[in-house]
Amino acid sequence: MITGDLLLPSLYHLQRTSAIRQIDICALNLPPLQALQDRPEFRQAFPGQDFTPHPSFAEAPNKNFPELYQEVIAAMVPGNLVVVALPDNLHYEVVMHALHHHQHVLCVKPLVLKYAQAVAIEQLAAEKGRLVGVEYHKRCDRRSLVARRAYALGQFGTFVMGEAKLIEPYYYRFSNFQNWFTCERTDPFTYIGCHYVDLVYFITGLKPVAVSVYGVKGRFPNGNEAYFWSHGRVTWENGALLSVLNGLGYPDAAAGSNDQGLVMYCEGKDQTGLIFHDDHYRGVAYSYLEGLGPGGSQYNYISPDFYRTVPWEGPGFKPIGYGYESVAGIAQTIQRIENETAGLAPDAALARRRQLIREVDTQGLIATPANSYINELVVEAARTSVLQDAVPVRIVYGDHPHTEIDRK
Ligand SMILES: NC(=O)c1ccc[n+]([C@@H]2O[C@H](COP(=O)([O-])OP(=O)(O)OC[C@H]3O[C@@H](n4cnc5c(N)ncnc54)[C@H](O)[C@@H]3O)[C@@H](O)[C@H]2O)c1
Repeated sequence: MITGDLLLPSLYHLQRTSAIRQIDICALNLPPLQALQDRPEFRQAFPGQDFTPHPSFAEAPNKNFPELYQEVIAAMVPGNLVVVALPDNLHYEVVMHALHHHQHVLCVKPLVLKYAQAVAIEQLAAEKGRLVGVEYHKRCDRRSLVARRAYALGQFGTFVMGEAKLIEPYYYRFSNFQNWFTCERTDPFTYIGCHYVDLVYFITGLKPVAVSVYGVKGRFPNGNEAYFWSHGRVTWENGALLSVLNGLGYPDAAAGSNDQGLVMYCEGKDQTGLIFHDDHYRGVAYSYLEGLGPGGSQYNYISPDFYRTVPWEGPGFKPIGYGYESVAGIAQTIQRIENETAGLAPDAALARRRQLIREVDTQGLIATPANSYINELVVEAARTSVLQDAVPVRIVYGDHPHTEIDRK
C-alpha cells in the first residue's frame, strides 16, 4: 500500500529530476506489481516512466517468491538504494541483506521490532559506511519542524501531559493486512502509534522510559485474529505521560482518510504551554459528486500537506508534501554521500562516508538507527506489554539499553 501511495510516485519524480536512475520492484508475488503497473494516476502523473518487476509479468499470479529479493539486491551495483516496504516483521533480514551487499537503505517505519536488531543494523551500516534512513515522514511535516525549533527555544516550557491519536480506516481490514497484521506480529500501537512517539521525541528530545499497551482484538474477514484497537501509555524520562490511541477503524463513510492529531501540554514558569496539532482536518474539505474519498465517501478532509500530485512546470504532475519530502530527503542525502566520495580511494571513501553518516545521525532530522533507537525500545516494550494485557514495561538506558517487565 505505502509503495503505491507514496514511495513509487516519489521515486518516479526523483527519477525524472535525475536523482535516481533505474527502478526495480520486488514483491512476494505478481498481483501487487500488476496493481502498481495498472494504476491510472501513475500514467497521468509520470508519463513514459516505468519499473522493472520481480517476478516478471510472465510468471503465474499465484506463485510466491519469498527469496527473490536476495537475488535482486545481490545483482545491484554497490552504493545504490534499497527501499524496504515489506511487513514489519520482515524488515530486519532485508535491511541486513542490503547492507551486506553494500547498499544504502530507506526503510519504512518501524525499522525493526527488537532493539538488538536495530543495534545490529547500526553496526553493519557503520562498518560498510552506508546510510540507513528510517522513513518517519511526520518529522518532515512543517508543523513538526516548527514545533521542534520552538520547543528547543523554550517557548512552551517542558512537556508534561499529552495525547496522540492515529486511527486508520476501517477498510484496511479487507486489505492484505489480513495476512500479516496478526496479534503475534504487530498491533496498532506498533504499526502507527510509533509515528507519534517518535514525534514527541523529535520535538522534545525526551526519552521514553516506560510503556504499557492494552489491545482490543477482533477478526479479519479471513478469520485471522488481530488487535484492531490499542491504547498505549508512554512515560517519559521527566515523568511526562503520553496517551496513544490507535486502531484500524476510522469509519469508511466519514471524512478521511483517517483520524489523527497530537496535543502536548507543557509546564512553564508561572504558566503552562500548549502544542496542538490537528493532523486530520487541515482546513481543506471537499464534497465530491461521487464517492471518490478513501472509503468511498463523498465528503472528505484533504491534506495537501502529506502527499498530493499537482500540476507543475514539467510533464504530468509532481508529488508534493512532507511524505514526498521525507523520501526525497533520504534519497538525496544518499546521492550526496555517493557524489562526495566518488573518485576517492576505497579506504578514503569509506572513511568519508562514515563521517557524513555521523553528521546525519547528529543532525537528527533523518531518523537513523543511531539517532532513533528509542523507537525500537518502545516497540519492543509495547509488544511485550500488549501480549500480556498491558503489563508495564520499563526501558532501561545506560551501556546496555534494554526493556524489562516492571514487576513492582
Ligand atoms: N505511514 C507510514 O509510514 C506507513 C504507512 C503504511 C505502511 N507502512 C509500513 O510499510 C510496510 C508495508 O506496509 P503496507 O501497508 O505497504 O503493506 P502491504 O501488505 O500493502 O505490502 C507489503 C508488501 O510486501 C511484499 N512482500 C511480502 N513478503 C515479501 C518477500 N518475501 N519478498 C518481497 N516482497 C514481499 C508483498 O508482496 C506486499 O506487496 C509496513 O512495515 C508498514 O508498517 C508505513
